[in-house]
Amino acid sequence: MGDWTKSDWRNKPRVQMPDYADAAALEGVEARLSSYPPLVFAGEARRLRHELAAAARGEAFLLQGGDCAESFAAFNADQIRDTFKVMLQMAMVLTYGAKVPVVKVGRMAGQFAKPRSAPTEVKDGVELPSYRGDIVNELDFTAAARNPDPAKMLQAYTQAAGTLNLIRAFSTGGFADMHRVHSWTLGFTDAEDAARYRDIANRIQDSIDFMAAAGIDGATTHEFSSVEFYTSHEALLLEYEEALCRLDSTSGQWLAGSGHMIWIGDRTRQPDGAHVEFARGVQNPIGLKCGPTTTADDLKVLMEKLNPENEAGRLTLIARFGAGTVGEHLPRLIRAVREEGAEVVWSCDPMHGNTIKSATGYKTRPFDSVLREVREFFEVHGAEGTIPGGVHFEMTGADVTECTGGVRAVTEEDLSDRYHTACDPRLNASQSLELAFLVAEELTARRQARSQAAAV
Ligand code: PEP
Ligand code: CO
Repeated sequence: MGDWTKSDWRNKPRVQMPDYADAAALEGVEARLSSYPPLVFAGEARRLRHELAAAARGEAFLLQGGDCAESFAAFNADQIRDTFKVMLQMAMVLTYGAKVPVVKVGRMAGQFAKPRSAPTEVKDGVELPSYRGDIVNELDFTAAARNPDPAKMLQAYTQAAGTLNLIRAFSTGGFADMHRVHSWTLGFTDAEDAARYRDIANRIQDSIDFMAAAGIDGATTHEFSSVEFYTSHEALLLEYEEALCRLDSTSGQWLAGSGHMIWIGDRTRQPDGAHVEFARGVQNPIGLKCGPTTTADDLKVLMEKLNPENEAGRLTLIARFGAGTVGEHLPRLIRAVREEGAEVVWSCDPMHGNTIKSATGYKTRPFDSVLREVREFFEVHGAEGTIPGGVHFEMTGADVTECTGGVRAVTEEDLSDRYHTACDPRLNASQSLELAFLVAEELTARRQARSQAAAV
């Protein structure tokens, strides 16, 4: 990366970052974090890049998902296990639909910092700084809680390390065995309300039975009993990112040691801004959110900055427009990519363009809008002859009531029951798995259409 340094972002305009009042405290935290071990290793980030390169070619499919904002209060083993578990179930269903490996990337072990639509929040005439995620300040509406505290970065690091430790154990310790994963899914499709998905579930069961009969199972085959699982988050709090940045002695390149993949949000993708400056210098796979205001010219400049060597798997474009508007926005960006001959993974985030306020006052997302945006994404790629390479969801394995709809219908009245998110509404376990079945149907239809076209 030429003469790039991990501190260069400090000379660029920054947005969406807190102003820490106590400079000495901040420096103390940065110094400690800089001496800690990285959370991920360069070889892992390279392997993920390789797998994403396959997704760019249509030979793999990306499933990225997890919390909108990880929370210090909700940090416990069950919560990590349940989200990991539902992602494995979704991956299996998607593998069946796509007939290619599914690359599993959690919004986990580092997804703490949040961009906000306004720097302050007013309640009953009192104005306080906005909540920016547990790594920055606290949700409670008091001046003390909203004050940004650099020490929270140390707690975030500790939580990320604990989360990753459990994920690494679950990935290889028998928990991820295909028989187990599928038996959980059968638990979902056995219920009357999910009967519509039984056919796919039964077909997956047949495939597993067939392989077992042929001697391929967890005892003989590593792929049957263990998984690769990667972590990701928005690289928003650059003091934290810089402090965990490490030089990889094998390649001589820098690594963001905070997570395998990092992304740049829709509000921080200014081509000359601090966030792009940081991300361009690290070797991790980079995600770039593309929203309704992303122009073709912006995208061209960003692709040149973030992936000047045009390496496959380096850059994932995460489209997040909102249901009903994908056809208006995605084609111009697909054309920009084509004009540049750029290698990218196209992923669909059907969450961030579909947030509404319910009649009961809660921020929510209707399941049908989420599904509709995914379908529009597939449709546009079908029409353009390009590859829909993945999906990106805000979801949890817990049985929350934050998004409305799904077969186990959550109504607007239900939202108050178990509305636990600190930020945006997440799909619950049943809604997440249902969405995977519906995306698998899209993937199957797409494969069939392609093979029919090839046959004539
Ligand atoms: C997010 O993914 O949590 C997020 C804030 O998204 P966006 O930048 O696309 O709004
Ligand atoms: Co969000």
